[in-house]
Amino acid sequence: MNRQFSLIIIVIAGVFAVGIASAQQHRPYNQIMKDIGPTFASLKKNLDANSGAGAAEDAAKLEKLFAETEAFWAPLNTGDAVGYAKKAREASAAVGAAAKNNDMKAAQTSYTAIQKNCGNCHLAHREDTGKDNYIIRP
Ligand code: HEC
Repeated sequence: MNRQFSLIIIVIAGVFAVGIASAQQHRPYNQIMKDIGPTFASLKKNLDANSGAGAAEDAAKLEKLFAETEAFWAPLNTGDAVGYAKKAREASAAVGAAAKNNDMKAAQTSYTAIQKNCGNCHLAHREDTGKDNYIIRP
């Protein structure tokens, strides 16, 4: 292999590496939200069905997912997003505690508090591309 040719290969490999790295940066966040969506829907179903155990399980999952969300936003210096994630995490913990005690009324109230934070964060930081997907607006 001559020198120039190997240099070209190295440059191409570098471009690919950067491409993969930036794709991966967005993907994990997407994954978190894709997990949050159905878990949140399942939580509502369990609450409406008075299933305390099922609701507590979903709430525990949400608590972890919002901790992950919080960790994602922290280094971006986006204070309000960190706050929404934190409040959603705390409200998930409250839903879990109430559901375990079969206090479905309190659980529903905290559910509404989670929902408010989904909405607030999406309003401020989620952008609809108009192409059937969303992007982050830090
Ligand atoms: C701290 C901010 C924040 C909170 C809190 C939050 N989201 Fe999101 N969400 C985003 C951002 C930003 C996007 C767009 C980027 C993306 O899709 O990865 C998004 C995208 C989504 C998507 C689309 C995922 C996709 O690409 O298909 C769903 C579904 C979703 N959120 C559900 C929820 C639900 C349900 C809650 C509350 C239970 C919630 N989110 C709370 C910031 C947040």
